Amino acid sequence: MNRYSVAVIAGDGIGPEVMAEGLKVLQAVERIHGGLLFERRAFDWNCRRYLQCGRMMPENGLEILREFDAILLGAIGSPMVPDHISVWELILPIRRQFQQYVNLRPIKLLRGLESPLRYKQHAELDFVVVRENTEGEYSNMGGRLHVNTPYELAVQNNVFTRFGCERVIRYAFSLAEQRGAGCVTAATKSNGINHSMPFWDEVVREVGRGYPGLQVQLTHIDALVSYFISRPESMGVVVASNLFGDILTDLGAAIVGGLGLSPSGNINPEKTFPSMFEPIHGSAPDIAGQGIANPIAQIWSISMMLDHLGYPELGKLVLDSIEAVLQEGLIRTPDIGGTATTAELGAAIVDKLMQLE
Ligand code: IPM
Ligand code: MG
Repeated sequence: MNRYSVAVIAGDGIGPEVMAEGLKVLQAVERIHGGLLFERRAFDWNCRRYLQCGRMMPENGLEILREFDAILLGAIGSPMVPDHISVWELILPIRRQFQQYVNLRPIKLLRGLESPLRYKQHAELDFVVVRENTEGEYSNMGGRLHVNTPYELAVQNNVFTRFGCERVIRYAFSLAEQRGAGCVTAATKSNGINHSMPFWDEVVREVGRGYPGLQVQLTHIDALVSYFISRPESMGVVVASNLFGDILTDLGAAIVGGLGLSPSGNINPEKTFPSMFEPIHGSAPDIAGQGIANPIAQIWSISMMLDHLGYPELGKLVLDSIEAVLQEGLIRTPDIGGTATTAELGAAIVDKLMQLE
């Protein structure tokens, strides 16, 4: 029996609703394989806990997680707790401490769905964004001065290290090679930001020289967002700094049908630490508790976990099942034009998985 320990942080809002469906899929995967066991342990680390005891996770939370093979996250955030607390005390420390320096975000139009971009076919919307996940614009360096005076000021430093840029850019190039993508597009803004971005460009070119078979395209972020709409088919692998990657992937999600469908893997490629898999979407307090959230992003993130743990054939089976259900078109949540509940869509995907197996 191959055993993997999985920490499950369902979180807030729709997090627990979509996670419940994800875990059903994981259970079905165990049944199909027969020799695979995911030892799950649930943690109630969320905003409710914060409001009760003043912490999102225990002081030794990261030490606890360190022992797991992978982490599944639902969503974090509540209107009762400022995001800079809930996120900065849970998601960001996990990404950093565990050197999950790649945030891998597939932008793929699933069969059975239409893109809001008219005339775009499935083959034209199938690329990957590799987002830097530990430094860049999301640095906690800086501070405030002259607080509560007319001279008050806030400084937030962007941090771009050679080590940090190089490793994520190299990952993007080798992924492009694996995918046969032909081209790496790097998001930049070296025309307006004159220290960090020219440095980023330099590292992109340097790393790119090691991959003579791949084209390198440095594209300013403002142009790149328009290309996501006007010619997404020209994207193979896109690599971006933390904030640029964040913004690009919400747009990426929108062009393939919405946030309810888009997964992400916070990956430590060396596997020195656990990686974390989560939907791109947040806790969606506006629809929480109604049982109508789309569980596909969560289920697809579990498919990415299976890929990462070395079971790509099972990861593919999960994704194929999602696509098959969408192609039948009978069971859909409201965000993709149906009336089904979270649980009905989850159950349909599990049924399909058992059929396709
Ligand atoms: C994401 C989210 C987070 C991010 C927030 C919650 C800090 O938007 O995973 O894309 O910006 O990384
Ligand atoms: Mg985001």
